[in-house]
Amino acid sequence: MTDASLIELAIEVRDKAYTPYSKFKVGAVVLTKEGKLFTGCNIESVSYSPTICAERVAISKAISEGYGNIETIAIVGSLSKISYPCGVCRQFIREFGENIRVIVGISPSQYKVHTLKELLPYSFGPEAIK
Ligand code: THU
Repeated sequence: MTDASLIELAIEVRDKAYTPYSKFKVGAVVLTKEGKLFTGCNIESVSYSPTICAERVAISKAISEGYGNIETIAIVGSLSKISYPCGVCRQFIREFGENIRVIVGISPSQYKVHTLKELLPYSFGPEAIK
């Protein structure tokens, strides 16, 4: 699976976002080390705070299906500029590894590749409480 095709898939799943309030749709795709793919979109709530981001939906699907070895997460927002994961999602991704690749893009030919560590330096991870 190429980085460009992960962005392509994230763009596809973005259409499924449920965003009657913000109208800002986000798509995310998790690629595991076994090569499994899990998609996610943001899902909003009329009472606002239960809203869940696309990244956490995709990761929750992976974990709940038994796939915790996350290699990459690709994320696309709605605008013609790159949308970076929110702070909550950075921490949520961090749980599963600081070397996870985070691809943020707007099209299969316009994207950037980071590590979670770059986006959340000096993080608080599972090792911190052991
Ligand atoms: N959103 C995400 O899905 N991921 C992020 O990392 C940032 C924000 C969603 C939440 C909400 O539904 C909408 O984008 C506007 O904030």
